[in-house]
Amino acid sequence: MPPIPESPRRAGAAVYSSFVLALYDAWVLGFSNRFAWQCPTREVLLPFFRKHAGRRHLDVGVGTGWYLAHAHTPASYDVALLDLNPNCLHAAAHRMERPNDGLFQADVLASTAPLQGRRFDAISLFYLLHCLPGPMAAKAAAFANLKQHLAADGVLYGATILGDEAGHNALGRLLMKTYNRKGIFSNGGDTVEALRDALSLHFQDVEITERGKVALFAARQPR
Ligand SMILES: C[S@@+](CC[C@H](N)C(=O)[O-])C[C@H]1O[C@@H](n2cnc3c(N)ncnc32)[C@H](O)[C@@H]1O
Repeated sequence: MPPIPESPRRAGAAVYSSFVLALYDAWVLGFSNRFAWQCPTREVLLPFFRKHAGRRHLDVGVGTGWYLAHAHTPASYDVALLDLNPNCLHAAAHRMERPNDGLFQADVLASTAPLQGRRFDAISLFYLLHCLPGPMAAKAAAFANLKQHLAADGVLYGATILGDEAGHNALGRLLMKTYNRKGIFSNGGDTVEALRDALSLHFQDVEITERGKVALFAARQPR
């Protein structure tokens, strides 16, 4: 799969200005997750985030940091943050209301070199994959980069909004069309099968469940 040019890679991150971040939690986590994607945040996504959180944790694609602020992981857990957009990194670090274990600005599709070989027990990717450009096979570059930072018994996990084949409702179709046209999402062709193939290329143990139009995944044992 040829590498994706830089400008579409940045489009999925560039939208998160301070203004957008101020609206994000209410619009995405409150309204859209329930009514468009049919995967409520507090009932499904937050418990999933908590379930797999690790003592050495890396959150990738941090947004506003809502999950980090609400997961209430033990104080002994060290949490590092990685994002392409510095607005998100700083907003999320502030939101956590506890010290972080490092802020890393990096494009997860290009290189995770800023992590300098660090390893984590858990790496979370919530609502990142549907923002990354290209077909799922190209998004798998993120798995190739991140698996190098997973402890031997660690887990890479997350959630992503599925593409057109998922059969979105009218609101979902409107949002999918608008966001994909603007490059905020790039997920029209994303399917559970393509996600499973991409994860299986890099991990021996892959679990995927679906809730509404969202796939929740957990992958272990890097290949
Ligand atoms: C939709 S937000 C998800 C925020 C949060 N995880 C959640 O679930 O609410 C996507 C996040 O991924 C980041 N992002 C997008 N493309 C990226 C890339 N290529 N590398 C690293 N981060 C990226 C964005 O800046 C943003 O913080």
